[in-house]
Amino acid sequence: MDFQTFLRRIPKVDLHCHLVGTLRPQTLAQLASTHGLALPRPAETLYDFADFYDFLDVLRLASASVRTADDFSRVTYEALQDGHSAGNLRHAELLFNPQYFYPYGVSYRTMVDGMLDGMAGAERDFGVSALLVASFDRMIDAAGAMQILDDVLAYRKPQVVGIGLDGAERTGPPQRFAEVYARAGAAGLKRTAHVCEDNQTLEEAPPSNYAICRDLLKCDRLDHGYNLLADPAMVMRARDEGLYFNTCTITSVTRNLERRRASIAKMVDLGLNVTLNTDDPVMFKTDIAHSYQVLFQSQPQWGVARARAFSLDGVAASWLDDTTKAAL
Ligand code: HPA
Ligand code: ZN
Repeated sequence: MDFQTFLRRIPKVDLHCHLVGTLRPQTLAQLASTHGLALPRPAETLYDFADFYDFLDVLRLASASVRTADDFSRVTYEALQDGHSAGNLRHAELLFNPQYFYPYGVSYRTMVDGMLDGMAGAERDFGVSALLVASFDRMIDAAGAMQILDDVLAYRKPQVVGIGLDGAERTGPPQRFAEVYARAGAAGLKRTAHVCEDNQTLEEAPPSNYAICRDLLKCDRLDHGYNLLADPAMVMRARDEGLYFNTCTITSVTRNLERRRASIAKMVDLGLNVTLNTDDPVMFKTDIAHSYQVLFQSQPQWGVARARAFSLDGVAASWLDDTTKAAL
């Protein structure tokens, strides 16, 4: 078996995958039409982004097409089906942003019931498991985030294991969410946050956000992390703490692709704990196998051992319980 085939076949976990970023263009077009939603350009070209902020706008727009429990079930099922057929995905942790759906009259219960239904179907049909992470786009204020947490806790489901923070880092400093994170932690939810993403400048997404996410938000793991490389002392701290970074090979910003790959490799070389994920696979025209293959093509010195390490670190960093992890 050649190495590219090995990379496609090795069992994988995807811990950083946004539900709406998995929307197939045809599914998006159908759902938009059903709900009378006009897309600004054809679904096929909707995923060609001018920049990071254009991507975030499309993500929010696409969210308006997912409204009923059946819609949520369908897109969740298709996300896991696509991961299974593309690259032997065994387990996914899907981020969803309640605030993107509320404006269209969708209740928290509708979202979660639909996603759980899709997850049950994918487990039955493909043997792929999944957990859910309720995420806040940080353009929201602290009170809005607290209301979402109210909903999460009022309709508690074991599959909704944690909370996350995403969106543009310049629109909401992590400290804004300290109380929300403290309450979530006290209620037994896990905590992650997007931090130090390289589509934003060092001023917008600074390495110091790492310390805030750890000291104030008490995050159990983090998403992205590349801008941390600008601060060697913070890298040392992260390495000593053994924190997992859920990195993603592919980004919405094409000109940053090479730098992104180099950053992930550097993080590995510096001894950080790194997992490999898709972020927004369909919107970024990737899948979990492609995300491995492209990174490994940029690092010809890496072989089977490194691929196994990514795969196993994904399991270790997941929020499955220990018994389920051992069985994976
Ligand atoms: N960064 C910030 N917000 C996001 C992302 C991302 O990569 N994907 C979906 N929301
Ligand atoms: Zn993300």
